[in-house]
Amino acid sequence: MTAQTASLAGLDLRAEIDRLRKERNAVILAHYYQRPEIQDLADYIGDSLELSRKAAATDADVIAFCGVRFMAETAKILSPAKTVILPDMDAGCSLEDSCPPDKFKAFREAHPDHIALTYINCSTEVKALSDVIVTSSSAETILAGIPPEQKIIFGPDRHLGGYLNRKFGRDMLLWPGVCIVHEAFSETELIKLKAQHPGAPVAAHPECPPHIIDHADYVGSTSGILNYARTTPAQTLIVATEPHIIHQMQLAMPDKLFIGAPGADGNCNCNICPYMALNTLEKLYLALRDLTPVVQIEEELRLAAKKSLDAMLALASGTVGLGDLGAR
Ligand code: 13P
Ligand code: SF4
Repeated sequence: MTAQTASLAGLDLRAEIDRLRKERNAVILAHYYQRPEIQDLADYIGDSLELSRKAAATDADVIAFCGVRFMAETAKILSPAKTVILPDMDAGCSLEDSCPPDKFKAFREAHPDHIALTYINCSTEVKALSDVIVTSSSAETILAGIPPEQKIIFGPDRHLGGYLNRKFGRDMLLWPGVCIVHEAFSETELIKLKAQHPGAPVAAHPECPPHIIDHADYVGSTSGILNYARTTPAQTLIVATEPHIIHQMQLAMPDKLFIGAPGADGNCNCNICPYMALNTLEKLYLALRDLTPVVQIEEELRLAAKKSLDAMLALASGTVGLGDLGAR
């Protein structure tokens, strides 16, 4: 606990956050991987695509983004007139870290006949160097609309890219990044867990490595997994993604049993995203009170990054093709 958060002892943080949200005309957006207490007071919870759409459409003056930095930056790129605050500016992402813009630029330049289809889990600079951004829930629709002869670079998640290559019979060139959280699931422990719960389906996020995906009955984004949990007739579900999403499942389906897929020793916390966990109720309160840390992006960079995000938002509807967007 810092001196600043210690001084908050005795405050009713939920009531204070509510008061500040009204005073500031703020909307609180939260990702499914946030702590349950943050999910519970958010105005809106969603996956990366839904949160991007919400940020683009909001009429609030302030967006309090409870997620990681690339998500808050996406909100600022799409809604530049809003004040976008992130409770902890250190909330990064291992995929973003794996893809420094200068190296990505060199990779692009080495493959001038390829377009860059890039996962949203990257820096604003890498978005600015890309043609089309995808999220885990929009990637399949967008890729299905790109002609098979078009050469593609896919980064930074090699597991999501590999999953798409296998599913669509493509040979996209993959950037070698991974999510440290999804990388930590253990196949051996998953097989043991499945044996203990015969018939329980496995729902996995496409950031998982192939040896986990091979055991999955459903593969999709966080919203997709939540929807699968709602629609499967199974009473027990094994969930191979960050375990804080189970909070929403338990709220919506209190009679079903949701079990987080295990990590290496079968009982570690290695599947909790350490970046998402940096946001706390205390830090959210302070951010709303002081309007800091605030996301700032230089305008030329923002406009360059916005092109690839706008391309995603247009293509994700499935009604517009790559050709309709014109050459970049
Ligand atoms: P979703 O787009 O599925 O919410 O995924 C975001 C993410 O960071 C997964 O690790
Ligand atoms: Fe990044 Fe993985 Fe955390 Fe998602 S779960 S924010 S991909 S480190």
